[in-house]
Amino acid sequence: MSASSAPVVDPKMAVPLTSRPAFQLLSKHFETASTLHLRDLFAADPGRAEKFTVEAAGLFLDYSKNRITDETLTLLLELARQSGVREHIAAMFAGEKINITENRSVLHVALRSARTDSYLSDGHNVVPEVHEVLDRMAAFASRVRSGEWKGFTGKPIRNVINIGIGGSDLGPVMAYEALRHYSRREMTFRFVSNIDGTDFAEATHGLSPDETLFIISSKTFTTLETMTNAHTARDWLLAAAKDPAHTAKHFVAVSTNATEVTAFGIDTANMFGFWDWVGGRYSMDSAIGLSTMLAVGPENFTRLLSGFRAMDTHFRTAPLERNMPVIMGLLSVWYNNFFGAQTVAVLPYDQYLKRFPAYLQQLTMESNGKSITLTGHRVDYETGPIFWGEPGTNGQHSFYQLIHQGTKLIPCDFIGFAQSLNPLGNHHDLLMANVFAQAEALAFGKTEAQVRQEGTVEWLIPHRTFDGNRPSNVILAKQLTPEILGALVALYEHSVFTQGVIFSIDSFDQWGVELGKVLAKKIAAELAAPDDSGLKHDSSTNALMRRYRHDKA
Ligand code: F6P
Repeated sequence: MSASSAPVVDPKMAVPLTSRPAFQLLSKHFETASTLHLRDLFAADPGRAEKFTVEAAGLFLDYSKNRITDETLTLLLELARQSGVREHIAAMFAGEKINITENRSVLHVALRSARTDSYLSDGHNVVPEVHEVLDRMAAFASRVRSGEWKGFTGKPIRNVINIGIGGSDLGPVMAYEALRHYSRREMTFRFVSNIDGTDFAEATHGLSPDETLFIISSKTFTTLETMTNAHTARDWLLAAAKDPAHTAKHFVAVSTNATEVTAFGIDTANMFGFWDWVGGRYSMDSAIGLSTMLAVGPENFTRLLSGFRAMDTHFRTAPLERNMPVIMGLLSVWYNNFFGAQTVAVLPYDQYLKRFPAYLQQLTMESNGKSITLTGHRVDYETGPIFWGEPGTNGQHSFYQLIHQGTKLIPCDFIGFAQSLNPLGNHHDLLMANVFAQAEALAFGKTEAQVRQEGTVEWLIPHRTFDGNRPSNVILAKQLTPEILGALVALYEHSVFTQGVIFSIDSFDQWGVELGKVLAKKIAAELAAPDDSGLKHDSSTNALMRRYRHDKA
């Protein structure tokens, strides 16, 4: 494709979503389906709980508490077919340049390939280079973890600080927290992302520079926040180490941009690369996962990758009607495009997954927060929903009230495990009791008659009644292992993909973050100028900048 000619779009995705026959049938079907109550749907079909479940890669999904019937599912699956989901999955795995606005393959699935696999980008098998980097990461991680890699005073590394932002931070932080149980406890792992100096100051607080390793993680190696923090880190080190030659012992880079890495002063021998076919938010299993590997060790990192791969294989090969990411994606479309639900709550009942909702926010919203279709037209339907959440049971004591009795429909994803990694008394049964209770309460509620029967005074009955009919998915796994984490992340990656295909958008670009970046650079220069006479912004921005300059002085 030349830069001047628009790319050819899959004919199925070129048909506007609202013109696809299945979408129109779903609109009609919605008129009756939306009036059905989960209480009645369960009462009418004793087999419903078994029917609406699917298992893959160690995950079990119960989606029976969704406001669907057999017909809903049939129509949603037909929408997937008419939207070209199957063909698009094949295109992604074949390395076709489905990221059309950046003219790139989308091959994060190759990051977790087996050595014998083959994934082609531009006709070239990328698997050997993926494994070459993984092997270098493993060798490096082993040297650091064993104490063989020494800092400038000859002491081993005890502290690792990942400096990165967005996909170069959220995945590593989430994975470190999620797999903390498997991590090297004698080492300290911290993450700096914010350009706010407080982030750096707090992350380095109490650490000895001679025992600290910085991983500068940036796909582009030009991101303002990351490069500012990286320079500050170098100053922090050199304030103690004095000799710039010591930098090599304390800085490694993870990037696709060898030129900028060299310009920063990091030897490319200490650089771990990845490729333009890996999107930032799809990169936690690339070299961007170096901090994860340092924390949990190469073996556990390999286990993580195998979990991703198991879900990839399922996504690629399972029929649509038994395909967990496809089903999750279609249910999301059902609420987003027919019920008008604006958000999805992700509620992991595992403290180790406390950063999972934050991680999912970038994955889902940077991917599907678009309003222009692949053919360059403005959508006349909703695209990606807002994702948010908190680990259970904390959320129950803050925002669940609104989910239960508020005016908004908020589909929920509950995530729970059969076995705790920290079994303590009856904590785990109590935790899981809450998963089942919440999903049950949301679906079935409590009728006026039930509340009255409990002896509630008449005037309080409306307040104590729960309408129910609030949908949720329950995702269960045996234990939070590295494999299960990989499968879980891949599940959401592919669900996002499925939704993006149905919306006919490019889920792999992120043009929407550019304008703010450009303006911030301009404004930063203006804030540093000797006077504010040259401000040419709107009156609000000018006034805010003047006030800031004044108060700062
Ligand atoms: O926020 C935009 C973005 O480009 C993300 O997509 C990316 O994950 C993040 O910035 C960081 O980019 P980089 O890894 O190039 O520093």
